Amino acid sequence: MKGPIDASRFGPWAVVTGASSGIGREIARGAAASGLNVALVARRVARLDELGRELATRFGVSYRAVQADLSVPEGVAAVLEATSALDVGLFVGNAGFANPGELWRLERGELLRAVHLKIDANLMLVHHFAPALVARGRGGILLTSSIGGLNGVPYVSNTAALEAYVLTLGEGLHVELARHGVRVTTLMPGPTLTESMAKMGVEPAQMPVKPMSAERVALEGLRALQANRATHIAGRLNRIMSRLMPRSLATRLTGAMIGKAFAKPGLAASAPARLPEARRATVQNLQAPPTADTVRSDQS
Ligand SMILES: NC(=O)c1ccc[n+]([C@@H]2O[C@H](COP(=O)([O-])OP(=O)(O)OC[C@H]3O[C@@H](n4cnc5c(N)ncnc54)[C@H](OP(=O)(O)O)[C@@H]3O)[C@@H](O)[C@H]2O)c1
Repeated sequence: MKGPIDASRFGPWAVVTGASSGIGREIARGAAASGLNVALVARRVARLDELGRELATRFGVSYRAVQADLSVPEGVAAVLEATSALDVGLFVGNAGFANPGELWRLERGELLRAVHLKIDANLMLVHHFAPALVARGRGGILLTSSIGGLNGVPYVSNTAALEAYVLTLGEGLHVELARHGVRVTTLMPGPTLTESMAKMGVEPAQMPVKPMSAERVALEGLRALQANRATHIAGRLNRIMSRLMPRSLATRLTGAMIGKAFAKPGLAASAPARLPEARRATVQNLQAPPTADTVRSDQS
């Protein structure tokens, strides 16, 4: 076994959603390094092609670049069609994006798009690939959730709630599919240096915990799958903190941390150029002095 997972168990093909950047791209690299052919799924197909060519050259594997917007049913259908002739031994449900800001200010369509991507697409794709894995009595499913799925997270409330769905789905399937020889692992990254973190507007240098590299997070996820763990929190410090901290405290602390990051003068100053309307509004709101209403609700 040259890479982190065993190709005879999880090959010959892996389908990886969200493979055009960040953690998904690194999971695809890890799967290819293990000798698996990869079907790479995302909207930015040029990036998928570039990655596929790199993996074919470096590891001698085959690849498919599958352009699909998984927040709509047509995108899920495109993946089913593009992979119908492939012998898929590993499905990686990783695609996702965050909805940063005060939920009530965010655009409802964007919130629902995130729901369709994290819930509908993962459910449909797991439901599609699982029967073939069960029939062959081996293979795996790796889902990317988040440590944010362990408790509510203010200013990314919808995102954290969707991660909780993925975590709970994965935990159930881990047991359900084990008797059929299929391994299911849910990866829970903490703060990770990816485009998604940049889009949140959070400056890595200002975070109390150093963000991890996408490469490291992906490697830990693949190793956890190989070891047949139900869940894996990436990073030792993240693991320790999530074990020690009660949920209510975790919610308050992460809320304070993200709220503070949003309210940084540097970020606020750059907000008009960089951030969507809803997040600019959140920045302004976080910087505004508390009103009688917020003071009252804080004391209740
Ligand atoms: N970074 C963190 O701190 C962190 C922490 C905890 C959990 N996570 C989770 O890790 C996963 C990967 O995120 P990342 O940090 O690696 O972010 P990223 O670099 O922004 O990657 C997100 C991936 O999802 C794809 N994607 C987004 N919307 C899509 C859509 N509608 N249809 C198909 N693909 C879509 C993107 O591709 P296209 O844009 O090309 O479609 C991209 O490949 C996410 O599920 C996220 O919730 C990240």
